Amino acid sequence: MNITYSEAAKCFKLDMADASYVIGIVDEEKFVGHAYFGKKLGEEDVAYLLRTGEAPFTPEQNARDRLSFLDCFPMEYPTGGIGDFRESAIEVRDNGGHRALQLNLKDYRIYEGKKALPGLPATWGSEKDTRTLELTLEDKVLQVEVILSYSVFEGIDAVARHTKVINKGNAPVMLEKVMSASIDMDDREYDKLILHGSWARERHIDRTPLNYGVQSTASVRGESGHQQQPFMALLEKHATEDVGEVYGINLLYSGNCMTLVDKGQFDNVRLMSGINPARFGWKLNPGEEFQSPEAVLVYSSEGIGGMSRTFHDLYRTHLIRGEYRDKKRPILINNWEATYFDFDTDKLLAIAREASALGIEMLVMDDGWFGNRYDDNRALGDWDVNEEKIKGGLKYLVDEVNKLGMKFGIWFEPEMISPESELYRKHPDWAIQIPGRMAGLARNQLVLDMSRAEIQDYVYEKMAAVLRSANIEYVKWDMNRPLSDIGSLALSPECQGELFHRYVLGLYRLQERLITDFPHLLLENCSGGGARFDAGMLYYSPQIWCSDDTDAIERLMIQEGTALIYPLSAMGAHVSDCPNHAVGRVTPFETRGHVALAGTFGYELDVTKIPKEDREMIPEQVKMYHKYNDLVRMGDYYRIASYRENHMYDCYMVVKKDKSEALVTFVQVMGRPNSHSRRILLKGLAPEKTYRIEGEERTYLGSTLMQAGILVENIWGDFKSKLIHVIEA
Ligand code: GLA
Repeated sequence: MNITYSEAAKCFKLDMADASYVIGIVDEEKFVGHAYFGKKLGEEDVAYLLRTGEAPFTPEQNARDRLSFLDCFPMEYPTGGIGDFRESAIEVRDNGGHRALQLNLKDYRIYEGKKALPGLPATWGSEKDTRTLELTLEDKVLQVEVILSYSVFEGIDAVARHTKVINKGNAPVMLEKVMSASIDMDDREYDKLILHGSWARERHIDRTPLNYGVQSTASVRGESGHQQQPFMALLEKHATEDVGEVYGINLLYSGNCMTLVDKGQFDNVRLMSGINPARFGWKLNPGEEFQSPEAVLVYSSEGIGGMSRTFHDLYRTHLIRGEYRDKKRPILINNWEATYFDFDTDKLLAIAREASALGIEMLVMDDGWFGNRYDDNRALGDWDVNEEKIKGGLKYLVDEVNKLGMKFGIWFEPEMISPESELYRKHPDWAIQIPGRMAGLARNQLVLDMSRAEIQDYVYEKMAAVLRSANIEYVKWDMNRPLSDIGSLALSPECQGELFHRYVLGLYRLQERLITDFPHLLLENCSGGGARFDAGMLYYSPQIWCSDDTDAIERLMIQEGTALIYPLSAMGAHVSDCPNHAVGRVTPFETRGHVALAGTFGYELDVTKIPKEDREMIPEQVKMYHKYNDLVRMGDYYRIASYRENHMYDCYMVVKKDKSEALVTFVQVMGRPNSHSRRILLKGLAPEKTYRIEGEERTYLGSTLMQAGILVENIWGDFKSKLIHVIEA
């Protein structure tokens, strides 16, 4: 990893493990151009890729056709209003109401390490393993400065980018769009890949050809959302799981977001990511600065799988924080699907007693323990323990659970307020709302205006009091509706466009405070399942609940899409009861365990009520988790076959970093009559090493396992699964 500047070539070069990123400066005006992002280059200069030798030349040589230059030059951070008619990365409205900005290089800095982003999640690194380039660009007319920041990390083919806008002029400006990163490339017949979904169907993979014009994936829900991830990949047409060039971009942000690709008249492709400009506006007074969230660009020459492994490594080593990052998480049992709102101390203790005897390590008390929360129509905001349900109080319950040798965890939905609550009766003005307009309900609740510090502080103190009242070691932080009727009673009319982003900043401030004050707490984020499964939240919590759909077969698709970007260590996955509450499907208990093993692993069922045969399997599953979790959490993930594509079976594996061990999960979704065994080619092993498959006598060379493969016998029945443990002999 290195960052250099060549005065002769007028190029900045960012070198990663196996990739390079080149930025060139052209013309006397110093336009900042994107020259190259791809497989690692040698020392040679590639400034010629900026095509300044071709018509329409650079402005200083051909001022007459200045607009032709602006509209075709591969910009590093394109601006609107002066002649680049493609999508712009930034839009600024000046005091006179005009929209134009021209950014040219003023200065640069290269340094070891990486600075934190105040109030925002970001990748981090030390002076040893991270380097940063900062380009300061300026618009001389408005005296607006834009600092583009680029960081690279030892051993990882990724560039982390963000943008800061500073108003150095004398008049306020309105920021209408500030993308975190933008990159211009030549089209190489790319496909684009996004993750789409819905509640209980999150992060399904969608790959389509890249067309001309603008294509985007975005959220205006105030959260990253179930529907579209802050992510896009561009893939060479022939790229597969294992081969071909792939570019991925992922925003580290949990609010309104947009990833956009624009294929233009010269088959040029502009890819950008940032806060969604829809419904966004930010007033920047003289002397003020605006910091964008961070976006990560990943390059892979080893197909989609290579991209995933790079994201996983980056996020495991340079994003997720806290003591649980590298630790096995306690196997939890959550009472949501077990009891919904119908529980009390006795019921919870009965579940805990049975669970602890089976080896489960933590009881999580979900929604329904506070105020008069007997159903989901009331009480959000009233974070006082309901002692009618929690008889004897919270401390008694937690102590009893602890006496069983189990940890205790609790659910909150801190950002919400029910109209039917004590809090709303006292503070109706605390809800996000537009004066004179009845704010729409979702799940019968409204959203607290988390942009306001006094509301953040109130919620925080209530939560902290609960957490201090007993030995609570885990929090599930939920968020069960999108934001609508956007209005804050604390913002002036011209600043209402800031609310969405200020809300997210408030959320981050609260979570930062929580993990600072309670450093040993295991925090799991959640949003009606996986509506806020994003890299922003991963900065605060090492795990996120993947989906309210716990069906093992649905989970194959959800977890495949999630693992496209996010490490398995972050995927909240539980074994639940059947018929499954989301789809009504009945799958073997064993398969449910094997599929949940690919995530954090836990249970979401009433262990006192499930069939005896299922209950009897739990101690074995607990052993399985302890045997394999280090490997799953820290290993390299390879997709072998996708049920989404073949409609028959699914297969993936995790390989230990030193290649001494691997675990293959094979799920035969649909049983097949009259079939012989299926040949599976393993991946990621060391070709020269000798391996053994647990339970078999013979040994195999790694090359044999990867080229000739193994035969997995046909299993009789639907939804059956098998683990194959490969160990170095
Ligand atoms: C959301 C979560 C569930 C559960 C419920 C409680 O839907 O995703 O896991 O916590 O809320 O209301």
